[in-house]
Amino acid sequence: MKRLLIVHHTPSPNLQAMYEAVRSGASTDEVAGVEVVSRPALTASPVDVLEADGYLLGSPVNLGYLSGALKHFFDQVYYPCLEETVRRPFGAYLHAGNDATGALRALESITTGLKWRVVRPPAVVTGEPGRAELEECWELGAMVAAELGTV
Ligand SMILES: Cc1cc2nc3c(=O)[nH]c(=O)nc-3n(C[C@H](O)[C@H](O)[C@H](O)COP(=O)(O)O)c2cc1C
Repeated sequence: MKRLLIVHHTPSPNLQAMYEAVRSGASTDEVAGVEVVSRPALTASPVDVLEADGYLLGSPVNLGYLSGALKHFFDQVYYPCLEETVRRPFGAYLHAGNDATGALRALESITTGLKWRVVRPPAVVTGEPGRAELEECWELGAMVAAELGTV
């Protein structure tokens, strides 16, 4: 059994909707052999990361960057996980008020440092996520799960 870890900061209903769509996709019956584990970013530990085989990351854009919660997560896990998690697959979703540029740049920089392998480009939503945006989130979760399990 492979483990897919969702690390998320979810401070609003729009982010909750995206989180639920990502989690639903990650848990799809179309992929076998994957267990989904979810942790709020402020509680996720290096052990959570080491024990997982792939990652889904979710955050709002705050002050032109990732949320402090997701930054805290990376601060906690970066060096303890640097050598053990190379090439592991990941995906990410962001919710912005209007502009996710700085957060996307930070996410790319951090995950490049970790040598994680992006499965598909991050899902970025502004405003209330509609049906198409939630489907994109579902697909993101399902595609990362499919990297780990059998379709
Ligand atoms: C302290 C703070 C800083 C924020 N900074 C930005 C920002 O720099 N760029 C942006 O697009 N949105 C910014 N936002 C908006 C958040 O991204 C937004 O509240 C979050 O994605 C949740 O969206 P919602 O409140 O519409 O559900 C900020 C929000 C807060 C609370």
